[in-house]
Amino acid sequence: MKMINLKIDGTPVTVPEGTTILEAARAAGVKIPTLCFLKDINEIGACRMCVVEIKGARALQAACVYPVSEGLEVITNSEKVRKSRKITLELILSNHDRRCLECSRSQNCELQALSKELGVNEIRFPALNEKTLLPIDDLSPSVVRDPNKCVLCRRCVSVCKNVQTVGVIDTMERGYRTVVASPFGKSLADTPCVNCGQCIAVCPTGALTEKSDKSKVWAAISDPEKYVVFQTAPAVRFSIGEAFGMPQWSPPSEDSASTRFLTPTQARTLRSWKRAPSS
Ligand code: SF4
Ligand code: SF4
Ligand code: FES
Repeated sequence: MKMINLKIDGTPVTVPEGTTILEAARAAGVKIPTLCFLKDINEIGACRMCVVEIKGARALQAACVYPVSEGLEVITNSEKVRKSRKITLELILSNHDRRCLECSRSQNCELQALSKELGVNEIRFPALNEKTLLPIDDLSPSVVRDPNKCVLCRRCVSVCKNVQTVGVIDTMERGYRTVVASPFGKSLADTPCVNCGQCIAVCPTGALTEKSDKSKVWAAISDPEKYVVFQTAPAVRFSIGEAFGMPQWSPPSEDSASTRFLTPTQARTLRSWKRAPSS
C-alpha cells in the first residue's frame, strides 16, 4: 500500500493513500470537531465544522472529505479556522429551537457539546420563535421528529437509505427552507418506516427521539386493578447482556441455571428445541 507523508500542525504524519485529513489527524492524536460526519455512514462534507487550512490553498477545506496527498501541510487550529467554525455553529444555532432544558437530548447532544467546546457563549443571530417553529411529527408509534432541532447533517437520511435500505426520509426544499422530511411532507407514520430507531441512534441532536411511554407505564403501575407484566424486545435484551459482559447463548444443558441473554434467532431456536417431543 502506498504511504503518504504530510504535516499536521507541523508534526510529520505518514498514512495510507486514500486517507482523509480527518482520519490522518485522528491517527496523529489531533482533534478536529465534526458534526455531520459518521464514519462509513455519512461522509458528505455538509456542515463545515471540520474545516482546516491547507498551505497554498485559498479556501478552508472540509477535513472529513479531503484526501491527503504527498507533502500536504495542514493547520487545524489557526485563528481563521477557529473563527470560521464558530460562525458556522452560530448560524446553525440561529435556525435551531434552543430550549435545551426541555429537550430530552440535553447533556447528551453533540450540538450542545460542540457549542461548549467552541466557546459559543453568546449567539449574535436570533433563534426560532413561536411563529417560525415547524410542526413536530409525533404520530409514529416510536419515533418523534422535531424539525426545529434538525441541523441538516443528513446522517438519518444515509442510515435509513443505505444501512436499513428503507429510505423514507430525505431533504426537501432548498437553501434556508431545506428540511429533512418524509415524501410529500407526510408523517413517518404514513410511510413504510420500520421503526428500527437507527435514525434516532445517529442523530446528533434532539431532532429524532424515541417516543416515551413512561407516563402510560406509571399509570398502569399505579392502577390497583391491573397486573403489570414487563417484557423487553429481544434485540434490546441482547444489547443489555452484551453491555454487562454476559455470555452469549450456548446449547442448554440440564445443569445450566445461569441467566443468559439470547439473540432473537437463538431465542427462537431454544423455543423450538423445548417444543420438540422428547425421545
Ligand atoms: S438538540 Fe441539543 S442544542 Fe438543541 S435544544 Fe436539544 S439539547 Fe439543546
Ligand atoms: S434529523 Fe437528526 S440526523 Fe437527521 S438531518 Fe436532522 S439532525 Fe441530522
Ligand atoms: S464534519 Fe466535515 S463537513 Fe461536517
